[in-house]
Amino acid sequence: MGAFPAGFLFGTAQSAHQVEGGNVNSDWWAWEHAPGTPCVEPSGDACDVYHRYRDDIALMAELGLNALRFGIEWARIEPEEGEFSRAALDHYRRVLVSCREHGLAPIVTFHHFTLPRWLQARGGFLFEGFAALFERYCERAAGALGDLIAYACTINEPEGLGEGGFVLGVNPPGRTGDIDGMWRAAGNVLEAHRRGGAAIRAQAHVPTGVTLALPDLQYEDGATPGDHPVELNARVSERFFELARDDDFVGVQTYTRNRFGPEGPRGPHVEWGKGLAHETAQTTQLGQEVYPQALGNTIRRAWQRTGGTPILVTESGIATAFDEKRVGYVEAAMREVLACLAAGIEVRSYLYWSFLDNFEWSLGYGPTFGMVAVDRQTFARHPKPSAHWFGEVARARALPDPQ
Ligand code: BGC
Repeated sequence: MGAFPAGFLFGTAQSAHQVEGGNVNSDWWAWEHAPGTPCVEPSGDACDVYHRYRDDIALMAELGLNALRFGIEWARIEPEEGEFSRAALDHYRRVLVSCREHGLAPIVTFHHFTLPRWLQARGGFLFEGFAALFERYCERAAGALGDLIAYACTINEPEGLGEGGFVLGVNPPGRTGDIDGMWRAAGNVLEAHRRGGAAIRAQAHVPTGVTLALPDLQYEDGATPGDHPVELNARVSERFFELARDDDFVGVQTYTRNRFGPEGPRGPHVEWGKGLAHETAQTTQLGQEVYPQALGNTIRRAWQRTGGTPILVTESGIATAFDEKRVGYVEAAMREVLACLAAGIEVRSYLYWSFLDNFEWSLGYGPTFGMVAVDRQTFARHPKPSAHWFGEVARARALPDPQ
């Protein structure tokens, strides 16, 4: 079915909080240690990427990858309101330099779920000054780092921020059933994307966009759309598609499909806050249906809804204890990308979530998304066969011939 075009980016994605370790000034750290939250364990040292990024980047390059999407941490860069840390920014410059030295295009996420504690104390995503504070943070960070960045992502999965914190209660501040709070948070985050994105472009002149959580919603005959969390999520995505018409790219992040029948949700649906699911041949450790075809559907949707904004696949992945299942999933997802390319859709990357087995938010270290296992005592990295398989695909710029 053809090869990936020259310049196509093959890499992995990760966020700061989930891998760096010791992110003590963030609201998530506080949340992990507060009584009564659904968190099963704290993030602690995570994968110690804060100190081990060079070795990780060298390993990515050795495997054959040519891109890395990683997050910079607002709580480190602006530890108190208006107080910026030169040392934290210097740290991220070193990470960027390391990417460049190893031939990896750095794709930088400015916000991935976590907030500095001082900002959560002011109301977090509901604080009326949220967008202005995000704009200033983007301006400072892009000013210091922008010359080394290949692509800038403003906000990761903005749809889930209001939903997780105000409807499902699985993220700080842990409210449930507050749909009004969810929409107010969504409004602030939309504005933050608009202002933050403009600040990054003004400082750094790099292609900038938002990375959206796009599950593939499938309605069967007789089904009527309702207020299932994943449907609320999709309504927020629609508003971001509008903004993304003016962006340089849109990030597509898809893991599964969600089916609805006349009686409501059908088939596997994740129950957030309920802990690790039992993995079967058809489902993942998160209880999601194994359905890599979802990626093609969401790429086509994003392309159509944004009126042809170029697409980066910024996350695609599977939580599984079985690495051969991961290879099967990634191969099928990448075939979807090839089909979209053949149909004339401009897709520029496939970034697997995630390089390392890492901190999966309230589920802790139970789910294993990584192509590389991490020894939780020594932090030693152990690449799984999927890491080598993916590196070979990247080198060949093509998938193996179907057996
Ligand atoms: C998020 C990641 C998360 C991953 C797997 C995405 O929604 O951006 O932070 O770890 O999915 O659940």
